[in-house]
Amino acid sequence: MQQPLPTAGDTRWFVHDRFGLFIHWGTYTLAARHEWVKQRERIRDEEYQKYFDHFDPDLYDPTIWAREARNAGMKYFVVTTKHHEGFCLWDSALTDYKATNTPYGKDVLRPMVDAFRNEGFKVGFYHSLIDWHHPEFPVDPIHPMRDDLEYRERHKDRDIRKYAEYLHGQTRELLTQFGKVHIMWFDFSYANRQYPWGRGKGRDDWQSEKLVQMVRELQPGIILNDRLDLPESADVRTPEEYQPRGWMTVDGKPVVWEACQTFNRSWGYYRDNMDWREPDELIRTLIDTVSKGGNLLLNVGPNGRGEFDERSIERLRAIGAWMRLHSRSIYGCTAFDLTPPPDTRFTYNPAKKRLYLHLFAWPYKHVHLDGLASRVEYAQLLNDASEVKMFTVDPHQQAQNTTMGGGRSDTLILELPIAKPRVAVPVVELFLKD
Ligand code: GLC
Repeated sequence: MQQPLPTAGDTRWFVHDRFGLFIHWGTYTLAARHEWVKQRERIRDEEYQKYFDHFDPDLYDPTIWAREARNAGMKYFVVTTKHHEGFCLWDSALTDYKATNTPYGKDVLRPMVDAFRNEGFKVGFYHSLIDWHHPEFPVDPIHPMRDDLEYRERHKDRDIRKYAEYLHGQTRELLTQFGKVHIMWFDFSYANRQYPWGRGKGRDDWQSEKLVQMVRELQPGIILNDRLDLPESADVRTPEEYQPRGWMTVDGKPVVWEACQTFNRSWGYYRDNMDWREPDELIRTLIDTVSKGGNLLLNVGPNGRGEFDERSIERLRAIGAWMRLHSRSIYGCTAFDLTPPPDTRFTYNPAKKRLYLHLFAWPYKHVHLDGLASRVEYAQLLNDASEVKMFTVDPHQQAQNTTMGGGRSDTLILELPIAKPRVAVPVVELFLKD
């Protein structure tokens, strides 16, 4: 299996740990109808201020968040330090638009970093390049005030260089005030998109080259994502709200990649959203991602009281129940070089020479593994370590009544119990010969 070429960021721990928590939390949380609510509903700053004025997550306890995430089997987290609305979770010296100035009155980022770090998590910061609150962020075709011609005229002299200075200054705060930061997740550039008027923003607006240089100087080894409009600086590719068909490549070469996904198509808390994905589908998504050599960053949008709502908790705990028995088919695993049978996925731990067959549908008694006839020393169900019998069939054997006919000489056949094990996705652990 071809491996991605090394990049400036240290992704060794990342491609081992595989599974992370994305957290989207801000004043949009109180609107409770998607983190783009200000943009979608074209809400003016004066109107939007009510969410800031009522931000008071009195039940906020990040140790609870960290424990739920750890029990779900997650190993790193990426939190929105500032989203497109411009609201900052930490006590930034560069703005008054921050949690410390809300009724809650405190920095919410520092206790979160401490709590997750105490649970052994690697630390990641999402930081929005876009800022719909900053007075020098030019109004463009995706801005909340994009259709207000009077507003656009009044603010046409905004200076993106002053905004870039703010962007760099806050990035410096985040990378010097919170200890070791393992991931910097900027979002997003849109310079190459076409609009009826004006233009999107990209590397020149953010001064991305200078920003990347500073990030790497401040936090050597940090992993940078791919949304600065500077492809050469990316350590990881970030497909979102879709699953790649296979290992992601750039110019035909495999790259480190991380799919970021939601429970319900909204990153921010969305009270009335009914599109919640079932736990079993989320578990299959995690397996599918690792089977293609990728990571999964699964999102929770905490609510305005500072809690993971019960629908999120239910899913995290269902994933955790599966991971409790099957995490060794995820951690340290990657894609395998053979195609798995229909309705299954392979993940492979090359260090331990263990192949994992994930059964998305429970088969009728047998699974045929082409190419593995001579490669497997032992097989067991991972949930209870019960042996799975293996056999091969002479290619010349004729089928007759209950006797299976022959097929390929290199096919290994597994005989499975009739009753599906009582786990979301059963896994067969195959011990490969040296
Ligand atoms: C998109 C959305 C943004 C979200 C991000 C997560 O950029 O616009 O709201 O934070 O995806 O990857």
